[in-house]
Amino acid sequence: MQATLSALLAKATVEFPRLKSRADFEAAKARYVGPHGEFTVLMKQMGTVAKEQRPALGRLINEAKAQLQVQLDTALARIGEAEIAAQLGPAIDPTLPSPDTGPGTAHPLTLVREEMCRILRKAGFTVVEGPEVETEYYCFDALNTPAEHPARDAQDTFYFPGKARFGNLTKKTPEEKYLLRTHTSSVQIRTMLKGEPPIRIVSPGRVYRRDTSDATHSANFHQIECLYVDKNVTVRDLKALLDYIFAALLGKDTMTRFRPHYFGYTEPSFEVDLSAQHLPKVNKDWIEIGGCGMVDPAVFAGVGYDPDVWSGYAFGMGLERLAMLMYGIDDIRYFYQNDLRFLKQFA
Ligand code: DAH
Repeated sequence: MQATLSALLAKATVEFPRLKSRADFEAAKARYVGPHGEFTVLMKQMGTVAKEQRPALGRLINEAKAQLQVQLDTALARIGEAEIAAQLGPAIDPTLPSPDTGPGTAHPLTLVREEMCRILRKAGFTVVEGPEVETEYYCFDALNTPAEHPARDAQDTFYFPGKARFGNLTKKTPEEKYLLRTHTSSVQIRTMLKGEPPIRIVSPGRVYRRDTSDATHSANFHQIECLYVDKNVTVRDLKALLDYIFAALLGKDTMTRFRPHYFGYTEPSFEVDLSAQHLPKVNKDWIEIGGCGMVDPAVFAGVGYDPDVWSGYAFGMGLERLAMLMYGIDDIRYFYQNDLRFLKQFA
């Protein structure tokens, strides 16, 4: 019997490592330890062995059983790993350049963002980015937007629960809440607190508002923000830069106009309209495109710049609105649906 057991184990040792699939495994398992398996049959022969031989034989059988179990477990684990490896496919090296240069195209919002940044770089601006999760200080307080301002209402802004923690974003006060930034103007404050004037930055990025989606509104959209701080900066400089940007982006015939408005962080403040004869969406009327103004002295004082020495302008505008004008798109939702029929038009 001992010899039969050894032979059985030897056979299993050869057979199990060769099993390829779960079905093979189940069949082999049945052949050895199933109700009619070779090992099961051997065990049943215990009863026919002389009484005094039984303890020794029992020990042998237990050892053989344990060894068989190890063989089974090893085989099953190996087959499981092979299955996962087959699902994952060949290993990918993410650092290699993409072989796929053909079908992809830049998203229209990327095109507009890149073009705006290129134009502004030529005018001496540096591209900077800020966090999308912000604190009330950067989004509102430092921008001279008081607690009772409607923009701060929970109806308009996505706030995080009071107990939310973002380790990398320091709060000014414990009561202050985290929020999703409602505009890129927060980057003005971050930039000014980080460095000394003169400053010339452009900052594109995502912003969030509690809007319900319709053809022209989305709870998540994109803005581009500019800030210029230097000595003797005037509204003329602001108007000149905007005229330059839109002429470069949309064509020489593009005109801009300012309408007085209110923003807490600029004084005076304006809304900017543009008109471009050659653009189908804009040829009849003036279209509002963004907000701007001269940096409010209170904002300078808040970041430690002497308002008697430094002056500056700032503006912000929505990238979707711009792209819709440029390409004649009439529904903002097209930008986010990833419909190839839409995206391929920008190849
Ligand atoms: N933050 C404003 C908005 O989201 C736009 C804006 C207005 C930006 C005036 C500015 C500015 O930098 O000076 O509607």
